Amino acid sequence: MKIISHPKTLQKIISQSRRRGKSVGFVPTMGYLHEGHISLIKKCRRENDIAVLSIFINPAQFGPGEDFQIYPRDKKNDVLLAKKENIDIIFYPSVEMMYAGRYLTYIEVEDITKILCGASRPGHFRGVTTIVGKLLNIVQPQRMYLGQKDAQQCVVIKQMVKDLHFPVQVKVLPTVRERDGLALSSRNCYLSATEREEAAVLYKTLKSARQKILDGEKDAKKICRYMRVKIGRECHANIDYIACVDAETLQSVSSIEKTVVLALAVKFRHARLIDNVTVHLKH
Ligand code: PAJ
Repeated sequence: MKIISHPKTLQKIISQSRRRGKSVGFVPTMGYLHEGHISLIKKCRRENDIAVLSIFINPAQFGPGEDFQIYPRDKKNDVLLAKKENIDIIFYPSVEMMYAGRYLTYIEVEDITKILCGASRPGHFRGVTTIVGKLLNIVQPQRMYLGQKDAQQCVVIKQMVKDLHFPVQVKVLPTVRERDGLALSSRNCYLSATEREEAAVLYKTLKSARQKILDGEKDAKKICRYMRVKIGRECHANIDYIACVDAETLQSVSSIEKTVVLALAVKFRHARLIDNVTVHLKH
């Protein structure tokens, strides 16, 4: 396994492999790897000749007052895990390497980045699309693996890939959860013991709301109100948003007629958690 920190070095190695007909798969992460990341890595490993993992805490996607400085990191353990999963290359650049000198270029997807997480984290998705665009140009993968846990991130990145003609197939994998249902996240380590227990309510609420829809409820407002009340009652956290949106466009729906995503963001004292479920409606 190689650990590479220079974009040019990686570009060169990848170009050579691509010329030799090797397929390249890519998993972008910010490190502090958990089973959610590992599920993406395993799939990437299985489906490609060369599996590339990037670990980069991207300052451009953190707002002022957010957790960039304290975002958890554990390079040693991440490298160990990557090795265990047979990753070929870890791309581990420094901030100075990714945003060198007078850095002036950003990628911005409009509209769908201003709602849900984008509404409370202005500039966040601009940071995400910029870094993912840059990473795609460096890694030049045929396939990129993302987690459904960050549902809006998936939709926004797919939009960018389509609009800017990036020659990559985007694969979205299911959310990996703890035994009590809490979605794995590098940020779960910010939770106190009590908060950690309460946080299980989020997925339980999403699941029971999904069941209500499958049982015939079509009124999105009612579903959202149900989730708001349950979470408000059972969690000491501030609700950032609770939404019922079209799975493809992320636009709010009022009447639930086709596949929707129930999505939420909740702020505990030190951790902002997000989660979602997809509700597939049969016709
Ligand atoms: P990060 O939060 O490290 O997540 C990296 C990838 O792992 C993302 O595609 C995310 O959706 C996926 N992931 C996280 N938790 C998951 C879980 N419980 N189950 C399945 N997949 C999960 O997302 C980012 O980093 C960054 O925004 C990035 C795309 C790397 C750009 O900086």
